Amino acid sequence: MTIFSVQSTIFSRASVVLFSSNGFKRFSFASSFSSTAVYSPPLPKMKKRRFPIVSAVDIGGVTIARNDVVRDDDPTNNVPDSIFSKLGMQLHRRDKHPIGILKNAIYDYFDSNYSKKFEKIEDLSPIVSTKQNFDDVLVPADHVSRSLNDTYYVDSQTVLRCHTSAHQAELLRKGHRRFLVTGDVYRRDSIDSTHYPVFHQMEGFCVFSPEDWSESGMDSTLYAAEDLKKCLEGLARHLFGAVEMRWVDTYFPFTEPSFELEIYFKEDWLEVLGCGVTEQGILKQSGLENNVAWAFGLGLERLAMVLFDIPDIRLFWSDDERFTSQFGKGELGVKFKPFSKYPPCYKDISFWISESFTENNFCEVVRGIAGDLVEEVKLIDNFTNKKGMTSHCYRIVFRSMERSLTDEEINDLQSKVRDEVQRKLNVELR
Ligand code: DAH
Repeated sequence: MTIFSVQSTIFSRASVVLFSSNGFKRFSFASSFSSTAVYSPPLPKMKKRRFPIVSAVDIGGVTIARNDVVRDDDPTNNVPDSIFSKLGMQLHRRDKHPIGILKNAIYDYFDSNYSKKFEKIEDLSPIVSTKQNFDDVLVPADHVSRSLNDTYYVDSQTVLRCHTSAHQAELLRKGHRRFLVTGDVYRRDSIDSTHYPVFHQMEGFCVFSPEDWSESGMDSTLYAAEDLKKCLEGLARHLFGAVEMRWVDTYFPFTEPSFELEIYFKEDWLEVLGCGVTEQGILKQSGLENNVAWAFGLGLERLAMVLFDIPDIRLFWSDDERFTSQFGKGELGVKFKPFSKYPPCYKDISFWISESFTENNFCEVVRGIAGDLVEEVKLIDNFTNKKGMTSHCYRIVFRSMERSLTDEEINDLQSKVRDEVQRKLNVELR
């Protein structure tokens, strides 16, 4: 299940359609918020591994060993090797990569409009406590984002951050007042061209003091909200040129009021970011009860896909020269020229599901076997028989962005998927 449209925000109440016709799957916090998060057991660990196992990765000078995050003996741990291998990649720190180019363009906007007063922080470890990821930013105890189905848990108190908001409180406590935090974030999710279990976010945060708003004659919250909107409208123009924009009221646990900014792009409204006026409870934790602040969070992949015309989110991870050589430092918005479109191959799989079955668990199995050769996983049939047994049929689309796949290779992958699904997900193949 996907809890946001294209990877940018997770916590918004926004609209909700599960398996809608346009392929967008959104989850409503309006409905889930009051209910208890669904518990879904983590997947049993994979034995066969398709991914080269690296034994350690370096994150901002700190070495993380595989067994720091992949724990075969801990039932709460649901981090697969495929995710561990992404930990030190830091695409946002590569100046010639679309994610790094976009980040730098946002930096330029803040540097020139705020005389470099926003600090840039981009090497914080993505391994954070549940307190940082959830409690510090007031995510309710029963919020769906806390479930093992949606978040990667290292152990019961430690997760791979699912948003850069995880750093707000700690940075405030350390005395930072205006900052941009960029980093890789991790979410268990479905598979399609706009969803990948690792992506990048930038968090912006700005604290105001009474002298800032007193002259304006405005109430502090209104002052912060107006300043926020002015700042982000300017950012959108800096990135997209003279676009039509609109503000949509929404809900986030950490802000009140909360908004989403949308721009009109290719004949459709596109959600660009989530933001709002920070909840006083967050400021209070750092002794800032007399202050007011705004915050925003934006998904870099989603913006980069639009700005650079990148059709599939997997491409960001490609080291194929035909991809990487198309981008240069400082060149925002160069349009990507697809080097070739290799043919897709479709394989269907049907099974009777059990109560603990979740689509995210299924997708994790498929990704664990096929890696980036899987382009999409779609539920194409779903019915319950007279005995109350529910059957799902999924269509798996295999396609490499770099070469043609052979029948033999696909059949082998599909047969492995069938074996693993049966072994791990407690389903009965049909
Ligand atoms: N953390 C949110 C998400 O990942 C995005 C976000 C929304 C960040 C509003 C913020 C904010 O700082 O104020 O869905």
